[in-house]
Amino acid sequence: MKNSQYMRIVFLALCLFYCSAEAASCGASSNVKAAYWPSYTVSFMPPASINAALYSHILYAFADMNEQTFQVEEQDLMGEFTTTVQQKNPCVKTLISIGGGGSNSTAFALMATNPIRRAVFIKSAIALARRHAFHGLDLDWEFPSNTTEMENLGKLFSEWRHAINLESRSSGRPPLLLSAAVYYAHSFVVYGEHRSYPSASIAQNLDWVNVMCFDYHGSWDTSATGAHAALYDSSSNISTSYGISSWVESGIPPEKVVMGMPLYGKSWVLKSQNQTGIGAPAVAAGPKQNLSDESGIMFYSEITDFIRDTHATEVFDTESVSTYCYVGELWVGYDNQDSVAAKVKFAKQKGLLGYFFWAISQDSNWMLSTTASLSWNN
Ligand SMILES: *[C@@H]1O[C@H](CO)[C@@H](O)[C@H](O)[C@H]1NC(C)=O
Ligand SMILES: *[C@@H]1O[C@H](CO)[C@@H](O)[C@H](O)[C@H]1NC(C)=O
Ligand SMILES: *[C@@H]1O[C@H](CO)[C@@H](O)[C@H](O)[C@H]1NC(C)=O
Ligand SMILES: *[C@@H]1O[C@H](CO)[C@@H](O)[C@H](O)[C@H]1NC(C)=O
Ligand SMILES: *[C@@H]1O[C@H](CO)[C@@H](O)[C@H](O)[C@H]1NC(C)=O
Repeated sequence: MKNSQYMRIVFLALCLFYCSAEAASCGASSNVKAAYWPSYTVSFMPPASINAALYSHILYAFADMNEQTFQVEEQDLMGEFTTTVQQKNPCVKTLISIGGGGSNSTAFALMATNPIRRAVFIKSAIALARRHAFHGLDLDWEFPSNTTEMENLGKLFSEWRHAINLESRSSGRPPLLLSAAVYYAHSFVVYGEHRSYPSASIAQNLDWVNVMCFDYHGSWDTSATGAHAALYDSSSNISTSYGISSWVESGIPPEKVVMGMPLYGKSWVLKSQNQTGIGAPAVAAGPKQNLSDESGIMFYSEITDFIRDTHATEVFDTESVSTYCYVGELWVGYDNQDSVAAKVKFAKQKGLLGYFFWAISQDSNWMLSTTASLSWNN
């Protein structure tokens, strides 16, 4: 063996050692500081602009499931997503989120009810994640509509975990992460149909659940203002504290629960400039804004611009742990640095795995993402 060859082998061996030590220094994430990146926000938040140092996990939102074949489909920008965001944080992990609020719930139900379709779905999802170097998969099926569909969801998670473990053993790579975005409460009634998530399967098969602790109020009720992500509500169970407790009481260990926080607010037109609190009479949803482009919604970046430009009054409501601002007839409910810091403290006190934001592209100069990360570390 030639000397140079020998040196090369030594070098490679050292590199293998240090490269794996380097990977190990990222470690298994001890907590989750996640955010979803909606691919339709690429025009103002391309992956290269994401300040990935603020997050442990970034979720690509969303991949679609084909309604005929039940395969998860390739999307634009998936190929370079992981390597691009890792330039600012080599340890950040990426997941593909499948589905989303606008996706077809019936198609997911049809997939989940049939073992062959479940297998096709699972196989295509794993292949897609591996093809593009993602670290995991996330299911955002909004929402299984009855008890049968919830049972099928439990079967899907169990078969998915099994397939992930098999793939890991045969490829020799760490298993893909598996998470799901879920309703703020473990049990709920919508359109008169009661349903509960399959807690035993979730606890056994998922790495964690992303609990969507927001959208408690919105443009579907224009009669009054509301704190759409209130931590506490003394008059109802529609609150983050109630939702998180319901998940833990259902048997999901707190260290598998990740609390969602919004990077957007909900706006209303007030009925009277004299009544400006939470629950004040309103007459309409607030006007459409440039980026959020939907009446009744304002991104946090739009809210901070609005406060700067109009000198709106901002109030941190310690009772609900939420923030609102108003000027003239416009009222917006949201989270600011104070409410985010208090919520993160709550999540830590409850022993939760971490938090996530919807959505990465709505923050104002990374302000709330930074506050959350620092608050978690304190
Ligand atoms: C949703 O999917 C189902 C089943 O594939 C299909 O029959 C239905 O037309 C779809 N609905 C919409 C709104 O696309
Ligand atoms: C659940 O919903 C599906 C789709 O709407 C329906 O086909 C099924 O019969 C329902 N099952 C029960 C137990 O209500
Ligand atoms: C809130 O939930 C608890 C327990 O889940 C229930 O006993 C109570 O009736 C609910 N309260 C309201 C106002 O719905
Ligand atoms: C607001 O309150 C003031 C003083 O209490 C009253 O004069 C005024 O009419 C009220 N305005 C509206 C729009 O209700
Ligand atoms: C929104 O867009 C319009 C048209 O491009 C522009 O004139 C306006 O200044 C923008 N508003 C804000 C708040 O950025």
